[in-house]
Amino acid sequence: MSIFLFFCIAFSFLHFTTSLPSIGVTYSAVPTAVTSSNPESPAKISSTISALKITHVRLPDSDPTLIKSFAFTNTSLFLSIPNSFLPALATNRSVALQWIYSHVLPFYPRSKIALISVGNAVFDSAPKDYSPFLIPAIRNLHVALQELGVNKIPISTTFSFFSTITTAFPPSSAQFQQPAGDLIIKPLLQFLAQTNSSFLINLYPYNVFRLNNEIPIGFALFQDYPFNFRDDLVTGVRYFNLFDMMVDAVITAMAVVGHENIPVIVAETGWPSGGGEAGEVEANGIYAEMYLKGLVRHLKSGMGTPLRKEGISEVYVYELMDHANGSNKEKGRKWGILSENMTRKYDVDFSSGAQIHRSMLWIISLLLWFGFCLPLILVNL
Ligand SMILES: *[C@@H]1O[C@H](CO)[C@@H](O)[C@H](O)[C@H]1NC(C)=O
Ligand SMILES: *[C@@H]1O[C@H](CO)[C@@H](O)[C@H](O)[C@H]1NC(C)=O
Ligand SMILES: *[C@@H]1O[C@H](CO)[C@@H](O)[C@H](O)[C@H]1NC(C)=O
Ligand SMILES: *[C@@H]1O[C@H](CO)[C@@H](O)[C@H](O)[C@H]1NC(C)=O
Ligand SMILES: *[C@@H]1O[C@H](CO)[C@@H](O)[C@H](O)[C@H]1NC(C)=O
Repeated sequence: MSIFLFFCIAFSFLHFTTSLPSIGVTYSAVPTAVTSSNPESPAKISSTISALKITHVRLPDSDPTLIKSFAFTNTSLFLSIPNSFLPALATNRSVALQWIYSHVLPFYPRSKIALISVGNAVFDSAPKDYSPFLIPAIRNLHVALQELGVNKIPISTTFSFFSTITTAFPPSSAQFQQPAGDLIIKPLLQFLAQTNSSFLINLYPYNVFRLNNEIPIGFALFQDYPFNFRDDLVTGVRYFNLFDMMVDAVITAMAVVGHENIPVIVAETGWPSGGGEAGEVEANGIYAEMYLKGLVRHLKSGMGTPLRKEGISEVYVYELMDHANGSNKEKGRKWGILSENMTRKYDVDFSSGAQIHRSMLWIISLLLWFGFCLPLILVNL
């Protein structure tokens, strides 16, 4: 009887310990056709993000006026240090101190700086190769933060799936690409484990879909069609969407080098609603909305991935606003959840937490308590 009681109580408290991934968005301060030569004002951006009930924001440029504009908003900030800064940061500790003096100390903790990425996709930075500076730059920033008594902001770096992971087919055969895997990623994972930080990855099912014409579009867009799955024949695990396959490829690669428990944050993901190369027909508003809706629904379901039940811890949608041109590499792709004039493009609720899901759990929990646990306790007494 007491064993029943134990399970009863354990089960009814279980859901308090599960937390859903936070959903955020990336904002780069880039001029738009509407604002012509200037980006939107920081105050406008922070109020827009609060109005959308988005709780997490990634700022790739870490512009101090933007950081300041999020003071007292409760919005979690994910700052990023541009790759071009890595050589100086790696070789000179006072550069690290200076960066903290100008980007963190004046604003923190009023602005809720929650994470700093040293560099973004360093393996994709050709013709310059910033990767040799990565680990020394991270160490310098870490030591400098400790010196200044800022102990609660985790540091990491952001990789792109394409230049880091060997394959997602099947996820169980994924590894880190070499030689970066041994030279850079292994020491990084060690640092992340020591400092309780997270592995950050840019992950675009859109790009994998475009390169693999045997992938059905519905599998990339979180659609529940019959036979819309892929099996990992090695592990016998069944996948219902491409996003989970890619996340599990990352988790497998970490496991191969002995670090399967480090939290994973998806620093960028999204689907363009237009632009791109001629014939890039999947970059359209209907697919973009399907992807974002499917992603949000999947994250709020709390199901995690087959290899990691608790799932990823945060996901940042790329990106807040369309801009006029985009970089040459981007070929004018429109990734925004808002158009250039800041009107909403999609009917997607990015607010964190799944209210319906959560309240259902509460009701189930209450029913369980009063219908089963409480009588059991009374009988035991
Ligand atoms: C977009 O590109 C055109 C031509 O390359 C340029 O003249 C214009 O200034 C760019 N607009 C923005 C907002 O960067
Ligand atoms: C921020 O969070 C605190 C505590 O949760 C709350 O009291 C405050 O009202 C929030 N502020 C805003 C602007 O949402
Ligand atoms: C390190 O950086 C500081 C501040 O930018 C600069 O004054 C100093 O000359 C640099 N030292 C070296 C050795 O480059
Ligand atoms: C990491 O987390 C563990 C367990 O939560 C804690 O004991 C440890 O002190 C943390 N380490 C750091 C460097 O924050
Ligand atoms: C904003 O831009 C979108 C897309 O370019 C357009 O469809 C819409 O009419 C614009 N809204 C306003 C208020 O200008």
